[in-house]
Amino acid sequence: MSKILVTGGSGFIGSHTIVELQQSGHDVVVVDNLSNSSPISLSRVEKITGKPVTFKKVDIRDRNGLDQVLSENPCDACIHFAGLKAVGESVEKPWEYYENNISGTLTLVDVLRNHGCKNIIFSSSATVYGDPVQIPITEECPKGQCTNPYGWTKSMLEQILMDMQKADNEWNVVLLRYFNPIGAHPSGTMGENPNGIPNNLMPYVTQVAIGKRPELGVFGNDYNTHDGTGVRDYIHVVDLARGHVYALQAIERKCGLAIYNLGTGHGYSVLDVVNAFEKVNGVKVPYSIKPRRAGDIATCYSDPAKAQRELGWKALYGIEEMCRDSWNWQRQNPNGYEQ
Ligand code: NAD
Ligand code: UD1
Repeated sequence: MSKILVTGGSGFIGSHTIVELQQSGHDVVVVDNLSNSSPISLSRVEKITGKPVTFKKVDIRDRNGLDQVLSENPCDACIHFAGLKAVGESVEKPWEYYENNISGTLTLVDVLRNHGCKNIIFSSSATVYGDPVQIPITEECPKGQCTNPYGWTKSMLEQILMDMQKADNEWNVVLLRYFNPIGAHPSGTMGENPNGIPNNLMPYVTQVAIGKRPELGVFGNDYNTHDGTGVRDYIHVVDLARGHVYALQAIERKCGLAIYNLGTGHGYSVLDVVNAFEKVNGVKVPYSIKPRRAGDIATCYSDPAKAQRELGWKALYGIEEMCRDSWNWQRQNPNGYEQ
């Protein structure tokens, strides 16, 4: 058992990861500035696990705040989720994205090392591959040109963490490149809680299904894919969360630098997702075809073999469970955490 600092822990992926951490015997300390989340997610975590979550409302750019948290709660490792993540907003506000994500991470890692905690798992993204040169994407696939500042923050932070680990091999750094996380906790009490109009596919689908929005716009049906719509590697958020518990084991084995794709290895098109959602949940999702969205690529799915080989992790849930759990969460919480 160890104590883990979880930054951004009240967000979508962080909160689901805390459930898995607590259920595998870890203690957690959460810091989050609540800029994109509700602390209610953490009370839902406590209900599921029956264990208390220590939460501090601290911004990762606040050196003194972080220092105090780590002085009061010495930690063995950090799982670093905190960051801004809206692609379109990052194009409008690049400075805010670089400042929050990059300055925040630089401050965080400095405070961590001052406290002798040189173990970090970083939330990266398949976006670092740009338009991938090979499908399925292995970790050896070269990184590419990102199409937006959000993507660049991930790519640059990967580089910064790699350089730090190279210069000081007391650091263990695990870069996890997430594919497309969807789904929700099977209890229906935790899930994704987007602000305003959702940018991503699944929250839009669930809001159409519940009647909040009239129809889904499908962004392009003229891609070179089996039905012309974009293909992605959707992964159940609980599988993704479990991946972090396995990554911690790699840190315990002193992995140095390690990079893993977290995906299922299966590609589903937008229409595959709509069809699966309608079939599993017995609801209609009206849609119409819209122009392509700027910056989108045709196909993106992982080769997840390295994570299975080295970590012993693989995704257990399929597209049906992802659709079932996303709907279950939306239906039970039509307004997310704001009741
Ligand atoms: P989220 O917005 O739900 O969670 C991020 C959390 O970080 C939020 O609770 C937010 O309040 C907090 N935060 C932001 N800036 C902060 C700061 N300066 N100080 C303290 N807290 C701060 O997002 P998520 O979907 O849970 O994503 C978690 C991480 O995974 C992010 O780094 C994201 O970029 C990355 N990621 C997400 C996806 C995805 O599709 N959701 C895909 C790839 C990578
Ligand atoms: C996007 C981001 C990526 C980020 C990820 C998770 C872009 C270019 N990429 O990935 O950097 O890590 O979200 O936050 O924005 N779609 C529709 N209608 C919709 C919404 C989406 O047809 O209303 C389609 C898209 O064109 C795409 C697929 O659904 O083919 C998935 O889209 P989305 O959920 O936004 O994820 P990505 O674009 O893969």
